Amino acid sequence: TKDLNTSFIGKEIYIFKEVMSTNTVAKFFAENKVSDGTVIISEKQTNAKGRSGKPWDSPLGGVWLSIILNPRIDYSKLPMITLATGVAVAKTLERLGIEDVEIKWPNDVLINGEKVSGILTEAIAKFNTIESIIVGVGLDVNLDLSDFSDDLQGKITSLKVITGKEFDENDIIRTFLEEFEKICKLFIDGEYENVLNQWRKRSYTIGKIVEVRKPYNKTYDGYVTGINKEGALIVEKIDGTLEKVVSGECIIKN
Ligand code: BTN
Repeated sequence: TKDLNTSFIGKEIYIFKEVMSTNTVAKFFAENKVSDGTVIISEKQTNAKGRSGKPWDSPLGGVWLSIILNPRIDYSKLPMITLATGVAVAKTLERLGIEDVEIKWPNDVLINGEKVSGILTEAIAKFNTIESIIVGVGLDVNLDLSDFSDDLQGKITSLKVITGKEFDENDIIRTFLEEFEKICKLFIDGEYENVLNQWRKRSYTIGKIVEVRKPYNKTYDGYVTGINKEGALIVEKIDGTLEKVVSGECIIKN
């Protein structure tokens, strides 16, 4: 981390050999006031969390980290932080020379249509104001297909599987933290359209037919026309009405 070229992201970095989940560790650190941009990294995780309560495989060979942000922002900007993180991962992969990087809403990063990275953003709120945001990033770097559980076969991949090469995890972490800081700064400066356009440019989801699944809501199908200025997905239903999707799952049907 000596040569990390950032001004606030990663000024404090904590590296572990093994934790249950870097997001959980980050939450604990956040309660105890750490500096904005503190990063928690672990070589492996034994109980990592994915979106929608799913577990996340995290053996040796991946990048598993969480960033603590103490931003002065309101809830409406949270979805955009999540999108911005996806862009930072995508740009990291592009800097490694990988082509065909796309982002599936909200922030699964895909290479040739297969998932290599997932992001889990969690907010710590007190009395309805956000105190900290935990941005958890998982990137499958030097994993082999046999490292993934059976139900993930064919759905998930790694940089090694795709390129046939091994990568230096520390280089990737450094590049990612730099890209993450760049996009955070755009965000802090209120350059929201710039952030959204970087996401739109890499979108896998816009223009597809999807099935939207939200907890406690009826599932419906629709055509994705784009994302709006808050980062919500705009879905046109069969009857022509438009729905805004800010959370939930979106399954691609075509
Ligand atoms: C997804 O379901 O796509 C999100 C996966 C997020 C995994 C990362 S790995 C680092 C951080 N710690 C966790 O427990 N989860 C996130």
